[in-house]
Amino acid sequence: MERDLDNRGGVSEQRLIADKSIELASGTRMPILGLGTWQARGRSAVSAVLRALEVGYRHIDTATAYGNEAQVGQAVAESGVPREDVFVTTKLPPSRAGRERATLEDSLDALGFGYVDLWLIHWPPSGRARPDVWERLLELQAEGLAREVGVSNYGVRQLDELERETGRLPAVNQIEWSPALFDRSVLEAHRRRGVQLEGYSPLKTVNLRDPQLGRIAEDHGVTPAQVVLRWHIEHRIVAIPKSTNAERIAENAAIFGFELTPSEVEQLDRFAGNRPVYVTNDRSPRS
Ligand SMILES: NC(=O)c1ccc[n+]([C@@H]2O[C@H](COP(=O)([O-])OP(=O)(O)OC[C@H]3O[C@@H](n4cnc5c(N)ncnc54)[C@H](OP(=O)(O)O)[C@@H]3O)[C@@H](O)[C@H]2O)c1
Repeated sequence: MERDLDNRGGVSEQRLIADKSIELASGTRMPILGLGTWQARGRSAVSAVLRALEVGYRHIDTATAYGNEAQVGQAVAESGVPREDVFVTTKLPPSRAGRERATLEDSLDALGFGYVDLWLIHWPPSGRARPDVWERLLELQAEGLAREVGVSNYGVRQLDELERETGRLPAVNQIEWSPALFDRSVLEAHRRRGVQLEGYSPLKTVNLRDPQLGRIAEDHGVTPAQVVLRWHIEHRIVAIPKSTNAERIAENAAIFGFELTPSEVEQLDRFAGNRPVYVTNDRSPRS
């Protein structure tokens, strides 16, 4: 049964969002669009993940620090979608460096899973690359507890340090990304190393009321948020927009029925440096 969504989130064409995936260096396929879950808690987190799975998402991003792994696992179980069809990421808080195994086991218990698809070091512990921590992730991957391992909020030099010390690069680096944060040199540095760039906070780091963005959206009959997410897809960057609103969850996934022209992509690339001010992100004391 294949289906896709029209630009308002209704079920129309015969394509699954899940088919839209990229290949990691190892050959593992990772859906290019996922649901972010930071600040989704309790029943609202369960409903959001259920809604996402219902409209075709097959990729959910959580973290130990989000306190919602149990809700993510519950929703996957309740959804009826086979566990192996859903790509689930969770993250090791830097404060748990040295307690990697216990932390991953806690995550798996909370999720009710035998493995996660991607396990990330959430932030460089105390700002350092910590190849010793990375080594533990590789060991737990070798035991089959995580299909893929990677990092988040790492700089390119820190990626290189991990490789130099362990001979292995992360499969993924999850970093803040949007047109307003576009940096071609960072994107290309990841490409050259075969590290998949995964972008977080795709919507709240850009001004969705920007008139130029509005014009592009109007030309395609879509919303500004859909244009921003589609821009990630055009660059082959994994995007994980968060929403707990049923309509916006569907809207954010309905980005496979249109394409941006190269000139539109370039216009959005030039948003670089125009980040709007916002006050919170998950760089809280928790992690
Ligand atoms: N690795 C890290 O350090 C890190 C840091 C931050 C985030 N993340 C991950 O990345 C995910 C996404 O980032 P984020 O949550 O910071 O920000 P985001 O996805 O850019 O923005 C989420 C905000 O945008 C709203 N929204 C969602 N869809 C929208 C739409 N179509 N139009 C207008 N507004 C919309 C949401 O409200 P509603 O819920 O009301 O729709 C929410 O307030 C997180 O949930 C988390 O999984 C990782």
